[in-house]
Amino acid sequence: MTQIDKSLIDALRNAESIVFFTGAGISSESGIATFRGKEGLWNKFKPEELANFDAFIRNPELVWEWYNYRRKIVHEAQPNAAHLTIAEMQNHFKEVTVVTQNVDNLHRRAGSKKIFELHGNIEKNFCINCKKFHNKELDFSNGVPECDCGGLIRPGVVWFGEYLPEDQFRGGELAAMKADVFFVVGTSAVVYPAAGLVYTARASGATIVEINIEETEISSSVNYSYFGKAGEILPRIFEEYKLRADS
Ligand code: OAD
Repeated sequence: MTQIDKSLIDALRNAESIVFFTGAGISSESGIATFRGKEGLWNKFKPEELANFDAFIRNPELVWEWYNYRRKIVHEAQPNAAHLTIAEMQNHFKEVTVVTQNVDNLHRRAGSKKIFELHGNIEKNFCINCKKFHNKELDFSNGVPECDCGGLIRPGVVWFGEYLPEDQFRGGELAAMKADVFFVVGTSAVVYPAAGLVYTARASGATIVEINIEETEISSSVNYSYFGKAGEILPRIFEEYKLRADS
């Protein structure tokens, strides 16, 4: 069984601001596929046909088919022990912030309150022309839904080659700068600018803790690495913390 370092628990006991920077791996125990690796989505599907603006203009039906398929999976999924532990930690620390690359809404459904969604949210949609949000259930009975202005409605997620939502990225950056302990959970940390937040946090003096089932690009740059499932390691860290906090 993975041993949790005492010095990490000490760092947590002194921490006011804790940040969880999360990726697809945190939701894999909820049954949502990750992007990279053998079973990853980008191993089976081509991002250039599904996750970029030109692809949407070329074939909006196909892109919507893919997002409606993923939306169904996300709706049927439930937050797992990792999402729930992060939400519970809000009752024990002054400030708990989630900065996620995930679009699956599971942190919110688990009860996390302060969340920055760097890559958008699969529950949202907006018009490609006027950018108005259309967040009610869309009607596909007459093909790809359109806005009142005539523009096509697209999923509210960030595609390859697009800028991140400025307010969300800025919020994530400020949280990284303020973090005392910065957890990096279930991400390959290869997609920028999101992955750069790990270095922002490190440069600002945060203790960096990685939780992943395997080594990643950032493993050599962190203070603590725990290799295992997020849904097992995070509850263990929190249990240790609570035990010591009471002692
Ligand atoms: P990836 O699929 O690149 O990486 C998932 C990571 O989770 C890998 O490092 C796995 O080892 C790890 N992992 C899998 N199961 C785990 C578990 N149970 N516990 C802990 N770790 C686990 O996903 P992201 O890093 O999120 O962007 O990918 C970043 C971005 O690339 C995504 O947001 C998406 C994608 O293209 C856009 O769509 C814009």
